[in-house]
Amino acid sequence: MALPLRFDGRVVLVTGAGGGLGQAYALAFAKRGASVVVNDLGGDHRGIGKGSSAADKVVAEIRRKGGKAVANYDSVEAGEKIVKTALDAFGRIDIVVNNAGILRDRTFGRISDEDWDIIHRVHLRGSFQVTRAAWDHMKKQNFGRIIMTSSASGIYGNFGQANYSAAKLGLLGLANTLAIEGKKSNIHCNTVAPTAGSRLTQNILPGDLLETMKPDYVAPLVLWLCHESCEENGGLFEVGGGWIGKLRWERTLGACVRQKNQPMTPEAVKANWQKICDFDNASKPQRIQESVGNIIGALSQIESDGGISTNDTSHVASTATSGFARAIGYKLPPFSSTYTELEAIMYALGVGASPKDPEDLKFIYEGSSDFSCLPTFGVIIAQKSIMGGGLAELPGLSINFAKVLHGEQYLELYKPLPRAGKLRCEGVVADILDKGSGLVILVDVYSYAESELICYNQFSVFLVGSGGTGGKRTSDKVKAAVAIPNRPPDAVLTDTTSLNQAALYRLSGDWNPLHVDPNFASLAGFDKPILHGLCTFGFSARHILRQFADTDVSRFKAIKVRFVKPVYPGQTLQTEMWKEGNRIHFQTKIQETGDIVISNAYVDLVPTSGVLAKTPSEGGKLQSTLIFEEIGRRLKTVGHEMVKKVSGVFEWHITKGGNIGAKWTIDLKNDSGKVYQGPAKGSADTTFILSDEDFMEVVLGKLDPQKAFFSGRLKARGNIMLSQKLQMILKEHARL
Ligand code: NAI
Repeated sequence: MALPLRFDGRVVLVTGAGGGLGQAYALAFAKRGASVVVNDLGGDHRGIGKGSSAADKVVAEIRRKGGKAVANYDSVEAGEKIVKTALDAFGRIDIVVNNAGILRDRTFGRISDEDWDIIHRVHLRGSFQVTRAAWDHMKKQNFGRIIMTSSASGIYGNFGQANYSAAKLGLLGLANTLAIEGKKSNIHCNTVAPTAGSRLTQNILPGDLLETMKPDYVAPLVLWLCHESCEENGGLFEVGGGWIGKLRWERTLGACVRQKNQPMTPEAVKANWQKICDFDNASKPQRIQESVGNIIGALSQIESDGGISTNDTSHVASTATSGFARAIGYKLPPFSSTYTELEAIMYALGVGASPKDPEDLKFIYEGSSDFSCLPTFGVIIAQKSIMGGGLAELPGLSINFAKVLHGEQYLELYKPLPRAGKLRCEGVVADILDKGSGLVILVDVYSYAESELICYNQFSVFLVGSGGTGGKRTSDKVKAAVAIPNRPPDAVLTDTTSLNQAALYRLSGDWNPLHVDPNFASLAGFDKPILHGLCTFGFSARHILRQFADTDVSRFKAIKVRFVKPVYPGQTLQTEMWKEGNRIHFQTKIQETGDIVISNAYVDLVPTSGVLAKTPSEGGKLQSTLIFEEIGRRLKTVGHEMVKKVSGVFEWHITKGGNIGAKWTIDLKNDSGKVYQGPAKGSADTTFILSDEDFMEVVLGKLDPQKAFFSGRLKARGNIMLSQKLQMILKEHARL
């Protein structure tokens, strides 16, 4: 049998507890161990007069039965004083039941200002005053339970009770917001709309019903809602005679009656009236975000198709079945992504590459001899396909962008990404699946450098709530996620994201305010801005490259992830990895909570033996090869003299198409000098990095090396002064 619900150690304040429902609550709480403040002003049912006997009588009864209680005779408008009574007597306040109430029934035209005001002061302002006085104590102790007392008169309206109805529904509005604001401090706020025989209802309810509608048949609901084990928050309940029901809002699918670039007219409202009021397939919105989301959805719909149609993604379901065929195979507008080392570095910083890890330097310093673009930057190049509004154009599907989630991601590279360049991206809707709870749109994006395919992305975009069309659930086009092995991970790497992580990552192109604007994040239902899923993806891929591929980007072949949960900037990402041949399975967790945020994921690596074939062949087809060979020949005669004049070793990294095509060393320090292919044996005094084309321009005298240096086309590190001397050699000995 379940244990009885107890309130030992809890301090409960019940307002208007001198009679009726309040008395029943006070007695019930005391019986189950609570210390109770019995508040009652002691006036009549119209709010006239006052006295202490009502509260005293209830306190006496509780004490007689062995319980703990004190009386308070203030009006609820003096909330601070009432809460002080609790603190003085029992040292804390855990539960507030706002129950005190009066009536001033009049038909609307006869309501006086006083009748209006006193009802609002006692019910609405009184509940506000008492609750506010208790609020900070509850927050500090990270526990609180609050009850607001509404009424069927407020919910449905009742003849002769306009003032009372307005105040009673006002209490529901107050409770709705307290439920949201209190949630993170474990303060729950619920509302009851009771029916019970009391002095308030003795002239309203028929006599026999009064008898059966005992306040005792309401109290158990209030006790349960106030118990520490009850998770209910923000609920509204009708209760009476032992029956309890919960209420919620319902909303029709509605209709969008405005057309792009057209004035909105009352005629359009009239024409759509039936649809606006049709509760078939109605939704049950629970949060303001769903309301805002619907409006944003309507706006994007007006922008995209300009048509008059229903205003909800559920209508996608009804139009989608026939629309699927047209959308599948649809080619998204092609575009080009141009980037330089700056974007590649910004991305690397965004996914946590840092100078604190020496192996990351090549991702964040363009002067590194092996500067590389992180492979997962490939997703940034292609993401414009789905972010640039391409999805808004899909034939047969109208998408509510407020309900779009990034479900999964696949990325495959056919060669390492160039360190800078221009890639042309072509996207196509590969397939559309119906998962019941939503539709999944598979968007394949191919990125080319001229005609060479560099990478391929598959974005899985989930449209929440628009499934159930009876469409197919699977497709051979899917790059499937794969379950992790059933054993402890072979390796685990962690990285703590910085509080700036999302703000930094978004500079790479995902500008959604959800990741930076606290107001926007709270509208979307988050406590604060969240990290981009693709940022976590970048962290994990970096971990795998480091752990299993020596941070060698040419070993990266493909990655697949499923996004499960959001991460907040500042949390620690923990990548758990399992090696199975060339496939590294992984999942990513938030270390602080243990929550899995990326699941069923893997990275495929190029086997070590295949790497050489993938990297550009050393020196092949480079024009600079001829020059170096020529310098080498000429040094044979003048080398001795040059070594005396220069005394330096120069290493050259000649790039082609963004990658290092060849390394050369001109040694003018040892013996009589020599030129050879490959890095310096021993150490270089100065290292130069520049493209094959720029090298030719320099030696042909068309490009001034100093200008090339300051414009970033030529990079030099080490002893820069020595490079002055080298210029002399190039002038004298590199002319062909
Ligand atoms: P009741 O009249 O028996 O109890 C209300 C108590 O509040 C009284 O003891 C009264 O002295 C006290 N009170 C009035 N003004 C006060 C003030 N300014 N400060 C402190 N105490 C004050 O009435 P009942 O039926 O027990 O009502 C309790 C609550 O339930 C009220 O808020 C009422 O509006 C609400 N309600 C009751 C229904 C019913 O069927 N009994 C129906 C719907 C709502």
